[in-house]
Amino acid sequence: MTSRPAQSHPIFARVYAFMSRFGRETVGRYRQELLDGVSGRVLEIGAGNGDNFAHYPAGVSEVVAVEPEPHLRKLAFAAAARAPVVISVQDGVGERLPFADGSFDVVVSSLVLCSVADPAQTLAELHRVTRPNGELRFFEHVRSSASVSAMLQLALDRSLIWPFMAGGCHCARQTVMEVERCFTIERARELSLARPWAPVNPFVIGVARRTGSTAEPRVEERDQAGTPPRPDLA
Ligand SMILES: C[S@@+](CC[C@H](N)C(=O)[O-])C[C@H]1O[C@@H](n2cnc3c(N)ncnc32)[C@H](O)[C@@H]1O
Repeated sequence: MTSRPAQSHPIFARVYAFMSRFGRETVGRYRQELLDGVSGRVLEIGAGNGDNFAHYPAGVSEVVAVEPEPHLRKLAFAAAARAPVVISVQDGVGERLPFADGSFDVVVSSLVLCSVADPAQTLAELHRVTRPNGELRFFEHVRSSASVSAMLQLALDRSLIWPFMAGGCHCARQTVMEVERCFTIERARELSLARPWAPVNPFVIGVARRTGSTAEPRVEERDQAGTPPRPDLA
């Protein structure tokens, strides 16, 4: 019997790739905004089927895309071949990036920090591989500020049904706080892309910078649920 790789989510991968066609116009606007003005050597983690690739501007010298799910990685290879800039795709996870310290000008996370097993470790790795003063571009869905919606999101995450069905996704993560532990947020704005009560809503799009020369992420106290308090968004 052959064993599946740990990051293989064959049904989710096919559903995600199919569904992403319908959101290309709406979500594509935010992908464009996410990557606007990006230049130099770029790392994109959890690239999925490569829906960001068409939006990389000409100032990008190279994109290295990491994707652990085999089916999505195959689709990402095809998207890379059609992309306007040079993109290589490889297997890997955000928590262990096989790249040298400070080797990227920009790192990109789009709809990924909800799905990684360890967001803090992933952000520490992103910080490590970003050059001093380099950027993190992020587009993520986060925990709602409305208490009833947040309770529903927490319940879904804890039920394990949602993460199982959605390829490891968690709806209630407070990703902006996690980003702030490692990077300095320059701008971030909250977007509602679905009904207010939808589990995957709201979203946050933003730019953060690796300030300072050390790769030491800040460690703060967490509440009993293991999450830091939600910051105000700009
Ligand atoms: C919701 S999809 C988003 C895909 C793509 N970034 C996009 O914007 O459409 C989440 C992606 O994160 C990937 N992923 C899950 N765990 C990961 C990890 N530990 N490290 C890197 N990527 C991961 C999944 O395989 C999937 O491609």
